[in-house]
Amino acid sequence: MNSHIFEQWEANAENYTALVDDKGTPHHQKILNPCVERLLGDPKGKRLLDAGCGEGYLSRYYAQRGVDVVGVDISEKMIAICKQKSKDQSIEFLVGDICNLALFEDASFELVLCNLVLLNTPCLEEALREFFRVLKFKGILVFSVVHPAFNVFGPGRWELGEKSPDSGRREGRYFILDNYFEEKEYMIQWKDRTGAPFSQQFSFFHRTISTYFKALTRAGFRVTVVEEPKPVVEDSFFERERRVPFFLVFRAEKLEV
Ligand SMILES: C[S@@+](CC[C@H](N)C(=O)[O-])C[C@H]1O[C@@H](n2cnc3c(N)ncnc32)[C@H](O)[C@@H]1O
Repeated sequence: MNSHIFEQWEANAENYTALVDDKGTPHHQKILNPCVERLLGDPKGKRLLDAGCGEGYLSRYYAQRGVDVVGVDISEKMIAICKQKSKDQSIEFLVGDICNLALFEDASFELVLCNLVLLNTPCLEEALREFFRVLKFKGILVFSVVHPAFNVFGPGRWELGEKSPDSGRREGRYFILDNYFEEKEYMIQWKDRTGAPFSQQFSFFHRTISTYFKALTRAGFRVTVVEEPKPVVEDSFFERERRVPFFLVFRAEKLEV
């Protein structure tokens, strides 16, 4: 089911690694990551599964803060990059599919972080069931997606105006969205920081907010927080993201076994 996803990420592993540049894009740094960190609570001393870890910058970040991190990614190239970048840290990195985490025993993690992965994954229900299984009682899942209602990688887009001399970005006139209820796979061409296209297009799976919510509850989770994080800085660069949320973040707990 995930073979084309595997191929896309194998092809784009170097492009993605360069894009996040060991710390995430400005959107990650100034909007998403502070929210995710807050929702994880105090992770020190806990065992955390970084599910779909990419090139591993979040695994390295949390390992530096005393978290026992295991990173899993479907892409062999990504995992090779993770290992290369974390030579001086004790992080376990494994090739694996989040839709079948048979390599982990039941109840083996206190925390699961799945950052910007489920929107690239066709098997949402299976992944959430696996996260529930590998979490301990009272374990916490935090996952993020690009906001489905304002999804520039799906059924939405900004009508753009002129380039702002301050931010270098084009001003957002208004946001256009249609066919929100049509859940389907979109192909997106990403660009790197220089504007050059990634090697291959990516799959993005658009789903409604209620689909995520229902899948979480069906997997057994209790949803405890839903956040639409705003930029943590007043920078004019984020003019659009202060008006319309870019990310959606869920925190869910395993309160039943
Ligand atoms: C947008 S990147 C996010 C990476 C990382 N979580 C971050 O925040 O930088 C999506 C990652 O999910 C991985 N991925 C996609 N589908 C997967 C699956 N079924 N199982 C494991 N990893 C998957 C890709 O290989 C890619 O590294």
